[in-house]
Amino acid sequence: MNHYTLITGASKGIGKAIAREVAERKHNLILVARSKNLLNELATELSETGIDVQTIAIDLLNANSHTELFSEVEKRGLSVNFLVNNAGRGAYGKFYKVPLEDHLMTMQLNNEVMVRMAYEFIARNKGKEHRCYLLNTASTASYQPVPKMSVYAASKAFMLFFSQGIRFELRKSNISVSALCPGPTESQFFEPAKMDKIWNDNKKYLMSAESVARIAVNGTLKRKAVIIPGLFNKLGAVGAKLAPQNLATAMSGMLFKG
Ligand SMILES: NC(=O)c1ccc[n+]([C@@H]2O[C@H](COP(=O)([O-])OP(=O)(O)OC[C@H]3O[C@@H](n4cnc5c(N)ncnc54)[C@H](OP(=O)(O)O)[C@@H]3O)[C@@H](O)[C@H]2O)c1
Repeated sequence: MNHYTLITGASKGIGKAIAREVAERKHNLILVARSKNLLNELATELSETGIDVQTIAIDLLNANSHTELFSEVEKRGLSVNFLVNNAGRGAYGKFYKVPLEDHLMTMQLNNEVMVRMAYEFIARNKGKEHRCYLLNTASTASYQPVPKMSVYAASKAFMLFFSQGIRFELRKSNISVSALCPGPTESQFFEPAKMDKIWNDNKKYLMSAESVARIAVNGTLKRKAVIIPGLFNKLGAVGAKLAPQNLATAMSGMLFKG
């Protein structure tokens, strides 16, 4: 059976760049997001490398999207041995000023959907002959509370801890689990999150999605537990771990004050 890399959030940003990186390594792809046209455009581009590229346009916030997605994969006779659990969202602003529905959607997409996807993936692959990779996109926001992005940062801390926990459980199996912790990265994340004003003025601090993707795929294939792209982000994560938590929180609060 032909193996595929399935990437959620593949239509834009980091997911799209990971798709390009995987295509360069001649691995077949299943691209997943809501924007059908963007997925099809990317599939046309990446098919030119000679790999098979499939697209599945789906809103992962729909109930049972994960079962629909894996059923569709199986209906097409495909097998996923590399899952990039990447689609995510966030909202910027004081907790009580952002609509509650927005926070709940962030928790659902960044946590519940990712956990459900990981579960389906592990159920289909554990104990098989082939080697498998699960890459969960967390963030440098996983390392400390982030005022004005409290729900987002907590959702990313969850993903980092979840990834490390199941990695240990699966350490003797054929499945390697990694967490990707990018810092601020050029993508379309900031506009819907209403953070574009902050980062438009500070573009020099953003990493390119291409650099993040290259480091992410290399690190995953080397079976790294946690992948933090960029020296500045690595230092930030170490600093946040070492500093007293109220100091780390105050510093991220200053950085994200807008
Ligand atoms: N950019 C950063 O600074 C940064 C830093 C750390 C971590 N991250 C994380 O990196 C991941 C990718 O973000 P990005 O920066 O690449 O943002 P992005 O450019 O906004 O891309 C987000 C992707 O997720 C997809 N998506 C969003 N909602 C979806 C839904 N309901 N169903 C299916 N797909 C959905 C989007 O596709 P459609 O709109 O087509 O559905 C898009 O492909 C996220 O988990 C984010 O939290 C980003």
